[in-house]
Amino acid sequence: MGDHYAQHDNALYPHDAAGVPWTAAYIQSTGDPITDLHENMAAEQKARTTYEHLINLTDDSGVIATLSFLREREVVHFQRFGETLMLVREYLNKKHVF
Ligand SMILES: [Fe+2]
Repeated sequence: MGDHYAQHDNALYPHDAAGVPWTAAYIQSTGDPITDLHENMAAEQKARTTYEHLINLTDDSGVIATLSFLREREVVHFQRFGETLMLVREYLNKKHVF
């Protein structure tokens, strides 16, 4: 966090662990709901993995508890996207009459 603090104090400035700023280019969307939901599910798993890596970097029990809570949220997000994927597939497989 030292590099972030030196340039941005405690201000929000989204960037990755290497300091590369966040851009909208990170958002992947194709317009195909099946593809985009899979992309979202992969993003949730990547977030879970990142929290696990952060947990491995500390032995502070308070930080570990907070990161564990955030990690669990990513698991829930993954599950909700998965449920949505099933609903979308069900909808797309129905015969539609307009
Ligand atoms: Fe998430």
